[in-house]
Amino acid sequence: MQKYLDRIESYLQDCFTEEQPQKILFESMRYSLLAGGKRLRPIFVLAFCDLCGGDSEYALPFAAAMEMVHTYSLIHDDLPCMDNDDYRRGKPTNHKVYGEATACLAGDALLTAAFGQLASAHLPAERVTEAVRVLSLCAGELGMVGGQILDMEAERRLCTAQEVYDIQSRKTGALIAAACQLGVIAAGGSKEQQAAAAEYAEHLGLAFQIRDDILDVIGDQDKLGKATGVDEHKNTFVRLYGVEQCKKMVADETKKAIDALACFDRPDFLISIANKLIDREN
Ligand code: IPE
Ligand code: IPE
Ligand code: MG
Ligand code: MG
Ligand code: MG
Repeated sequence: MQKYLDRIESYLQDCFTEEQPQKILFESMRYSLLAGGKRLRPIFVLAFCDLCGGDSEYALPFAAAMEMVHTYSLIHDDLPCMDNDDYRRGKPTNHKVYGEATACLAGDALLTAAFGQLASAHLPAERVTEAVRVLSLCAGELGMVGGQILDMEAERRLCTAQEVYDIQSRKTGALIAAACQLGVIAAGGSKEQQAAAAEYAEHLGLAFQIRDDILDVIGDQDKLGKATGVDEHKNTFVRLYGVEQCKKMVADETKKAIDALACFDRPDFLISIANKLIDREN
């Protein structure tokens, strides 16, 4: 884990460092990108690449692209017009420091740069093209952005369980699914392996969002690095099922995620990440 984290941090540290007149934009992008965070999505890229027999060094641009899209989604998610949050990754949110216009643009630039990262990978062209297809699908109107609008639109009413699942699978699940698949793609893995990675991600993403909703209720703001108790008006899993039932659901979905790894030779690391996330505190 630490080795993966070190490689990701050092790669991201070197991004957006040019001296440019628009240096405030670069500063604001780096402010959020380098603010910490668990780096879960880039870890999935590298781990699935290694699992499929690839050299994860070549997958680093894919990993960075995932973290850029994720960070942009957080910057925009925190804006006053969305969740209106002041605190993220243990620091004031991007718009609190740089203002809303710059925060919007920092998100735009991170999203755009992510696709440049994919294109810059020293991998066969068909793997790069497939990565672009998958990330675009998972991040856009059918994926994360699609989930964000459903999430916002649902604030004004009570959702059914099916609707809450639909929202989470898009707003959170889709980027995790992209990350796991990008690892397989970077390695030139088979369609079966890509499907297994997507299934792992589907269950793990669900467990992850249920735990996120639990932590909004029982979490510690300092450990979490973001405010708690802010989801009371939202259609969360806790609102549907309560904290105790949700804890069981996290364990069940984690088990299903692990089962999806059966077709891989040595999935130990990805099993251990899934298990660690069950009772994560941040
Ligand atoms: C937070 O994601 C947003 C959700 C999808 C619930 P993470 O919990 O992975 O956030 P960081 O990257 O560690 O800050
Ligand atoms: C966020 O869901 C999903 C995305 C950022 C795409 P939340 O709104 O629950 O995430 P947090 O709790 O602010 O991290
Ligand atoms: Mg939100
Ligand atoms: Mg939010
Ligand atoms: Mg949340």
